[in-house]
Amino acid sequence: MQGKEKLEWAMTHMDVLSEIREEFLKKRPFKGLKIGMALHVEAKTGILALTLRDGGADVRLASCNPLSTDDEVVEALRADGLNVYARKGESREEYYENLHKVLEYEPNIIIDDGGDLTTLLHGEYSHIEIMGGNEETTTGVMRLKVMEKKGVLRFPMFNVNDAKMKHLFDNRYGTGQSTLDGIMSATNLSIAGKTAVVAGYGWCGRGVAMRMRGMGANVIVTEIDAVKAIEARMDGFRVMPMIDAVKEADIIVTTTGMKDILRKEHFKEIKDGCILANSGHFDNEINKKDLEEMAKSRKRIRKYVEEFSLGDKKVYLLGDGRLINLVAGQGHPVEIMDMSFAIQALTAEYIASHNSLAPRVYPVPEEIDELVAKLKLKAMGIKIDKLTEEQKRYLEEWKEGT
Ligand code: ADE
Repeated sequence: MQGKEKLEWAMTHMDVLSEIREEFLKKRPFKGLKIGMALHVEAKTGILALTLRDGGADVRLASCNPLSTDDEVVEALRADGLNVYARKGESREEYYENLHKVLEYEPNIIIDDGGDLTTLLHGEYSHIEIMGGNEETTTGVMRLKVMEKKGVLRFPMFNVNDAKMKHLFDNRYGTGQSTLDGIMSATNLSIAGKTAVVAGYGWCGRGVAMRMRGMGANVIVTEIDAVKAIEARMDGFRVMPMIDAVKEADIIVTTTGMKDILRKEHFKEIKDGCILANSGHFDNEINKKDLEEMAKSRKRIRKYVEEFSLGDKKVYLLGDGRLINLVAGQGHPVEIMDMSFAIQALTAEYIASHNSLAPRVYPVPEEIDELVAKLKLKAMGIKIDKLTEEQKRYLEEWKEGT
């Protein structure tokens, strides 16, 4: 499929963002503003960039990961006059050159995914004045909170990840579906009948575990958090330390945001033939250096599958340990990114109209979450009940019992 068709297909299924785009065309909230973006450059992201441009912004877009770009979409966006700096398979140097191209242009507002753009703005680009920005993902928010705590954050950043209409759907159902999509496309193997280990029971891990079970896998969850471990257990999954889980695992998926989830000690014990995939933002959850050092040999046997021979056993690393849902899959489903990117667009509009915010990490305003929920319900053709006046009164009451 060509990039233009991919963009059209995405737009057709992004009802909420399309409605916001119509409003932006009328209101032009970003007139005279430059927006710098570092996101996974694929069709849904393209629709967000075009929406912001229709809102009057001058947009520059780079990727937030060297392997997640859809080159056909890049071509189509460029043909439409958008400044896009991304290529699938770019080297680390090219990746940073592309982020530089976004920043050299001195944006007023940024939209980041993972925190690399924000970090550069606190290093060699610390002279640029930023009105504010949005962060898309859990890993980026973790980095922002450290910056805030250390007192170095120099402009306001909105935590888009934790908006209800983002993480409850994108992280859970989005990562759940797209991770399986990536693993299945990369391997053409069955999920049914396998033991799948999911590292981390945050919203992404919950989604992956749920969908793995739905496809017929026997699922084990690993955790470091006692509450989440109990939740996983009560959701019906087995819970155990990774060192025990690797002995049974046919597939392991990391979704933690933490480095070295799989390392030497685990590779020593791992089951022969195990498939390793990561759905966390960075490629440091599976320690590739350890794998390389232990490997007697390695070879690429499918486009996104590399075999590491560890002497008496083999393991298969998918997509170089980078987010498998975007490397071998197509990213989250369109209707889900519709909600995430509606939050992004409206929060960017909020920044454009509030230009003296203190340098802190802000939650997305409640009204934005509520508006996106209402628009999505309407788009899905779902009607819900309303409280009666009597029920509203009951909410204000504390004396009335049964
Ligand atoms: N498509 C665009 N951005 C994405 C993200 N952060 N995760 C999954 N799919 C995406």
